Amino acid sequence: MRADNVILIGFMGAGKSAVGRLLARRLGRCFVETDDMIVARVGRPIPEIFRVEGEERFRELEADALDALKLKSGDVIATGGGLPCREGRMEALRALGTVVWLAGDFADLYERARRSADRPMLAGRTAEELETLYRAREPYYRRAHIVVDTGGLGPDQVVARVLAALREPHAARV
Ligand code: S3P
Repeated sequence: MRADNVILIGFMGAGKSAVGRLLARRLGRCFVETDDMIVARVGRPIPEIFRVEGEERFRELEADALDALKLKSGDVIATGGGLPCREGRMEALRALGTVVWLAGDFADLYERARRSADRPMLAGRTAEELETLYRAREPYYRRAHIVVDTGGLGPDQVVARVLAALREPHAARV
């Protein structure tokens, strides 16, 4: 049987952290972020992991975090934007519970991602390069059970949409 976690995926700037935190509060569940699991394990912030150990090492750490998620049940889980985008990762996420893609227009996501915190994947990349990355990731995200369009919505409104979709699992799941 599928574990009953709710897993949020999506590109940088989709609001996975803000929405996840609110959603967990609304559902009375624990909130877990794969980026936090990695930072706690390595003892370094994400930009430093990229700088010192490189992106490939970070992707390995994501694989380990994904493995550790098998111990979770009933939690709300936010993944890093790139975590689902390797062979086999979406299957592993789908086995953990209901996977929700927080989708949006690339331009909006890019604007939001640029505004907040240090994001090593943004550093040194043009908007065009990031859009190419986004397009390459979309086929993975599309394998979510539920797709929620976040366009023009604040975190509260996105949470309401996620809750509505979770209540109608058969209609919304793909
Ligand atoms: C990444 C997204 C980040 C973080 C890391 C790599 C990516 O998470 O995991 O910087 O490859 O898209 P957010 O999606 O929360 O920004």
